[in-house]
Amino acid sequence: MATPVKVTVTGAAGQIGYALLFRIASGQLLGSNVPVKLSLLEIPQAVKAAEGTAMELDDCAFPLLSGIEITDDPNTAFAGANVALLVGAMPRKAGMERGDLLGANGGIFGPQGKAINEHAADDIKVLVVGNPANTNALIAQQNAPDVPADRFTAMTRLDHNRALSQLAAKLQVPVTEIKNMTIWGNHSATQYPDLYHAEVGGKIAAEQVESEWLRDTFIPTVAKRGAAIIEARGASSAASAANAAIDHVYDWVNGTDWTSAAVVSDGSYGVPEGLISSFPVRAAGGRFEIIQGLEIDAFSRDRIDASVRELTEERDAVASLGLI
Ligand code: NAD
Ligand code: LMR
Repeated sequence: MATPVKVTVTGAAGQIGYALLFRIASGQLLGSNVPVKLSLLEIPQAVKAAEGTAMELDDCAFPLLSGIEITDDPNTAFAGANVALLVGAMPRKAGMERGDLLGANGGIFGPQGKAINEHAADDIKVLVVGNPANTNALIAQQNAPDVPADRFTAMTRLDHNRALSQLAAKLQVPVTEIKNMTIWGNHSATQYPDLYHAEVGGKIAAEQVESEWLRDTFIPTVAKRGAAIIEARGASSAASAANAAIDHVYDWVNGTDWTSAAVVSDGSYGVPEGLISSFPVRAAGGRFEIIQGLEIDAFSRDRIDASVRELTEERDAVASLGLI
């Protein structure tokens, strides 16, 4: 059997962790012929719960699962890691300001970035899921100066999948009919799901829906879907978030012509260099590449700029806290 790929999952005892680990162990993250070794990172109080999940993983007798390690030490968790899914984060509590949340998460993602820098394998790929995902990814990336910056990404694939599903329902087509969907910007309510480059049946999607629906229903439904799930479930999205994490890494490793991912900006489309912002990307040879040359109309420009402005403010806030 090939050497197992080490996959580190932080926040492994949380609800996304529970929806994610079994799918990784079954081969859905990397491929049905790739053996995996799981490393579960938790805070000390949650290690016992992670041990319980590991018992259940054992009980599945997954053919591809070659081992499970459980730890509260980031240096151990990331030692030799090939893929890191940074899910564990500090949830926003009542009365907490955005700055408090960014500060609390800096205390998590700074040390994790350093541990990745010092101990991860040379081919490490990092996906940040824990919110605020883009800026947490920036903190981790900035604390890992020896790792190529393009190995740090944040998740907007859930937003991308939500956009596919909403558009498919509107046009009464299977999701597989939709091509070139894009989420721009931040994984937040300012994100911009773009129908001006998406195509259905070879024609631009924006031309197949009413402009009022696009502006007043589609964009806010996708952008505020996370809050709507919290309202309905009494807890934030978990299985769909885990599913999106699987999609993101699978495509990163195995290649895709077009998806959405938050990657380090190279200045494309006027997004300041260094920000971790969502773009249309393709993947080949284990690398994401921003799709170039798209025309951006005034409507899209305003929305991309608004989301990027929010990312810039988040970056300035964590910089002023000394986190990057
Ligand atoms: P959860 O509260 O159920 O689980 C989080 C887990 O992280 C807990 O078990 C906690 O002990 C652990 N944790 C906290 N600090 C840690 C640390 N320093 N190291 C390791 N583990 C740590 O939360 P959840 O529902 O699993 O969600 C996790 C995160 O994902 C949240 O920030 C949530 O907002 C975010 N999320 C992002 C998206 C997205 O699309 N990007 C979608 C859904 C949820
Ligand atoms: C989501 O998009 O479902 C989550 O990011 C929502 C949240 O705030 O946890």
